[in-house]
Amino acid sequence: MAPIDPHSFTDSTHPLTSHISLHLYFDFSTSTIASSALITLCKPHSGDLILDTRSLTITSVIDPTTNTQLQFHLSSDVDPIKGQPLTVSLTNCSKILITFVTSPSSSALQWLTPPQTFNKKYPFVYTQCQAIHARSIFPCQDTPTSRVRYNAKLNVPHQLSGVMSARHVERRAPVMGGDSGFTCDESLWCAEGRVVEEFVMEQPIPPYLFAFAVGEIGSREVGPRTKVFAEAVGSVLDAAAKEFAGTEDMIRVGERLFGEYDWERFDLLVLPPSFPYGGMENPRMVFLTPTVIKGDASGAQVVAHELAHSWTGNLITNKTNDHFWLNEGFTTYAERRIVEAVQGEDIAALNIGIGWKGLVDEMERFKDNMEFTKLVTSQEGVDPDDIYSQVPYEKGFQFLWRIERQIGRAAFDEFLKKYIAAFKFQSIDTHMFLEFLKANVPGIENDIDLKTWTEGTGIPPDAMEPISNIYTKIVSLAHEFKQGRMPSEEEVVGWHGQEWELYLENLPKSVEASQVTALDRRYRLSESKDYEVKVAFLQLAIGSRCSEYYNVVEKTLKEVGRMKYLRPLYTALVQGNTKKEEEKIFAQRVFAEARETYHPIAQGVVESILSKHL
Ligand code: BES
Ligand code: ZN
Repeated sequence: MAPIDPHSFTDSTHPLTSHISLHLYFDFSTSTIASSALITLCKPHSGDLILDTRSLTITSVIDPTTNTQLQFHLSSDVDPIKGQPLTVSLTNCSKILITFVTSPSSSALQWLTPPQTFNKKYPFVYTQCQAIHARSIFPCQDTPTSRVRYNAKLNVPHQLSGVMSARHVERRAPVMGGDSGFTCDESLWCAEGRVVEEFVMEQPIPPYLFAFAVGEIGSREVGPRTKVFAEAVGSVLDAAAKEFAGTEDMIRVGERLFGEYDWERFDLLVLPPSFPYGGMENPRMVFLTPTVIKGDASGAQVVAHELAHSWTGNLITNKTNDHFWLNEGFTTYAERRIVEAVQGEDIAALNIGIGWKGLVDEMERFKDNMEFTKLVTSQEGVDPDDIYSQVPYEKGFQFLWRIERQIGRAAFDEFLKKYIAAFKFQSIDTHMFLEFLKANVPGIENDIDLKTWTEGTGIPPDAMEPISNIYTKIVSLAHEFKQGRMPSEEEVVGWHGQEWELYLENLPKSVEASQVTALDRRYRLSESKDYEVKVAFLQLAIGSRCSEYYNVVEKTLKEVGRMKYLRPLYTALVQGNTKKEEEKIFAQRVFAEARETYHPIAQGVVESILSKHL
């Protein structure tokens, strides 16, 4: 008996799940889903089998081949990170049918009431399963070591439609005689005004890539294998279709660099503003924050990132979150190669530079806990949402870029293709990557200190900043700000969001309040439509205790739920010296008022920031 993942109760001696068949009956009046999951194990098992759950009510567990009840026990101890293990006793059994109901507080789900949507007419619900939230939707071995195929039937009100990170089979009327999969009474399942949306995922995926959304959803075609979906609002769909028009070009670049695109479709779903991430790489249908639609096609960077996961992350998956850099570091590298190919070297260099500053700042954040400055981490007893950082992204990127410099781009490109082909549809750890690297690049361990890179803390000495004129110019302008010099109009000609972002990120954390207002009077950064710019500016304003911007801070914290913006703003308000009483009270009030509009994951993260400092 040994766990195989610090974030799962899955036991090393138990067979893994190979297939799940889900029936989901959506009840918007109670914000719950009455469900059943038919789990197929890769081989028959006798004895206990442990599944992960969080806030689920289990109604029955049966062996569907004999139609007999199976003994089960849902632990009454709730692990604050892992949830509640569900133990089922099996005798030579490979199929288990579990019926259960989700809770309104399911950590993966955000239920939006009609007033919280754009059209204000119908409710909306969507998932975010990474890192360990799939278990709050259905019992499963919620570890990326496991890879499952699945099918799903979503029973929803007929005014709504369902989308999934899976192939859509059909939208049809519910039928009597077994269609309901024991989720609820057949009279409910087949009631007037209900429809069934059927999906199938034929490729094995880790549970964190399970995803759906249900609401009044429309779509526009943007390419031969891409549609953009969003709440059915003409203006939103049009803006999204325009922003993402270049998607097919990026898929082609990805195929040239990393091998064939294996997922058939690459659709995009633009979520409501409360979506807690910039993007989530759900297979066949990436989930995106609406804040990436800026009207200047700059959202392409986030799409490039989520697209890159189609190879690094979704084809090759980290075995556990301790090896998360294998997902995000490779993807950040792949994203920048795609960006370089479609937008040019200067933009790619700016992104590397913004990332570099992010990495340097994380060293400060983790100075009392250097464990999380390592690429390979030990996350036993740690909630992955609490330690989410730029380290796996940017130190991982730096490591791969270092290898590229050592062996040359052509050889590294060949290596990457080979790596992806060798491990696709597998879950791997850092050791497996390093063995493959050493076998395919003989002698690499003599040139690069692989141990320091993967196991050491901090930034290795052979990491580096990008070499680019525009990057160097912007960073030196930022340093001059300390001496009181603001960039002139001529100097900022042609600056877009990323140039300003890099500039602002490189300013000192706190300056004279008068300097902040002067900068804003000249360049109107607090009014920027680009949240990256606006939030970077507001951080500076808070750090400089420029309270005239606190109303903009409040408005921002109430209109978006993307954690990339919530984290730094709430942190800037509450961290540091004791004199910030006013800011702390302000942060608490705004959170109390905004809380209900945030996704449960964001609620938890903000709570943990506030509790650390108050
Ligand atoms: N997979 C991540 C998002 C994620 C990570 C969700 C960990 C839950 C736990 C996604 O691919 C990502 O990295 N998104 C970034 C995009 C950016 C790097 C372009 C984001 O949301 O900011
Ligand atoms: Zn990512």
